[in-house]
Amino acid sequence: MSKLRLHGKVAIITGAASGIGEATARLFVKHGAFVVIGDIQDELGQKVVSSINSDKIMYKHCDISDENQVQELISDTVKKYGSLDIMYSNAGIMGSSTNVLEMDMASFDKSIAINLRGSVLSVKYAGRAMVENKIRGSIICTGSVSATAGANGPFGYTVCKHAILGIVRAAASELGKHGIRVNCVSPSGVATPLSCGTYNSSASEVEMISAAVSGLKGINLKTENVAEAALFLASDESVYVNGHNLAVDGGVSVMNTGLAMMQDSFMK
Ligand SMILES: NC(=O)c1ccc[n+]([C@@H]2O[C@H](COP(=O)([O-])OP(=O)(O)OC[C@H]3O[C@@H](n4cnc5c(N)ncnc54)[C@H](O)[C@@H]3O)[C@@H](O)[C@H]2O)c1
Repeated sequence: MSKLRLHGKVAIITGAASGIGEATARLFVKHGAFVVIGDIQDELGQKVVSSINSDKIMYKHCDISDENQVQELISDTVKKYGSLDIMYSNAGIMGSSTNVLEMDMASFDKSIAINLRGSVLSVKYAGRAMVENKIRGSIICTGSVSATAGANGPFGYTVCKHAILGIVRAAASELGKHGIRVNCVSPSGVATPLSCGTYNSSASEVEMISAAVSGLKGINLKTENVAEAALFLASDESVYVNGHNLAVDGGVSVMNTGLAMMQDSFMK
């Protein structure tokens, strides 16, 4: 039996010119998948392709908020590789860091267009391609700790990430009858251009803040750890997992961080 967990599978990963998506593209190729990166950072996307240096990876420009571009990304992939087995809808932006009282609605709309509309479009066209080609595929969305609680990110971002869970649960219910699984990976703070840029912090500062609130001590979350969770959901090892939100957050989403800190200080 092949040790390659995605041997011969065809995957699209959006937002893989950078961060979590890039780490996942590297891991998927290592596990035998053909990977198409869809992103808007063309130069960076091409750099990722050349650094992976394999005939199993290619880049295609795709703004996920644009319906035609998403449709084309998926139809071109199916034309080239004859299938679409895995869709990882991962591209996203943190958006404006203003709170609700100062919310700039243009920035809120942009967040909705990319984080929400972009994910719906990815699920819609990937789902269609899988149904039409009778593929029992795996669709994965990137959520966040912001998908289940407030105060983990900007207002607009939290709204969108909560809705990602809605997309995953609704799509899992609808597409299960075609054998298609839809799941979510929800990381906590991990150092990438998105998190460092939003908080104007270095990678080590982001890791320090993340580690301070995490229940799991002595380890920093890396993009590769999130990629491993996506690999599980993409592979046949998760063949009966559907509609699930897989948290990769050191337990922070199930802890009351404030109370945990108080408890710690009382126990001393
Ligand atoms: N970094 C974190 O702390 C963290 C935590 C939880 C969830 N996430 C989520 O992980 C996902 C990946 O983010 P990341 O941290 O790797 O950030 P990143 O900035 O490194 O990567 C995001 C990628 O999405 C691309 N992108 C942005 N808008 C796009 C569009 N309209 N069309 C196509 N591509 C577009 C960017 O060009 C970039 O390559 C996002 O959905 C983000 O919300 C990140």
